[in-house]
Amino acid sequence: MMTLNEIENTCRNCKKCILWEGRTNSVPGEGSPRAEIMFIGEGPGKDEDAQGKPFVGAAGKFLNQIIESIGLKREDVFIANVVKCRPPNNRDPEPEEIQACWPYLEEQVRIIKPQLIITLGRHSMGRFLPGLKISEAHGKPKRYKGIDGGKQVYYPMYHPAVALYNGSYRKVLLEDASRIPKLLKKIKEENLNERS
Ligand code: URA
Ligand code: SF4
Repeated sequence: MMTLNEIENTCRNCKKCILWEGRTNSVPGEGSPRAEIMFIGEGPGKDEDAQGKPFVGAAGKFLNQIIESIGLKREDVFIANVVKCRPPNNRDPEPEEIQACWPYLEEQVRIIKPQLIITLGRHSMGRFLPGLKISEAHGKPKRYKGIDGGKQVYYPMYHPAVALYNGSYRKVLLEDASRIPKLLKKIKEENLNERS
């Protein structure tokens, strides 16, 4: 089993898919190793590629607001992406790129053991919860296969970047976010009951 630091160092030099060719920095993800919530985006954009950190551009500002709206700080959660290197011109990641990068995310989830995984956008949702439509699935928690065979709770949300292009999504994202604290409380109670 790797540590979060080892994953980070491996990502920094990874050449497992062609996205390495265009990157300035890979963006392994960051946050608390004891996070109860993981936010999983799609892939780094220009600012993230420049800084090597996830969600530090315009979409990141809105994600910070979302996190603060539920009484948390960025440092309390863990933020990662399904691909760790920036797709050229911010194109969608290809399935083979998501597949090549998957072991890093899988290992991050295995180490952090979040109570709740919040997928941001359809590419992230699609990797964890295949076959759903985001217009129907957003804002609804789903218990589904976890990384180690058990069940994991997922909560699909729209990608915060959509709110930058279309203001009406802003409200939807904040409404979906407003249900997270209660949901987390419920998951923690259920998980405690299962163990006792
Ligand atoms: N969009 C993403 O999906 N991830 C980032 O890290 C930044 C923007
Ligand atoms: Fe490696 Fe992932 Fe970057 Fe591809 S996107 S080069 S698999 S770290």
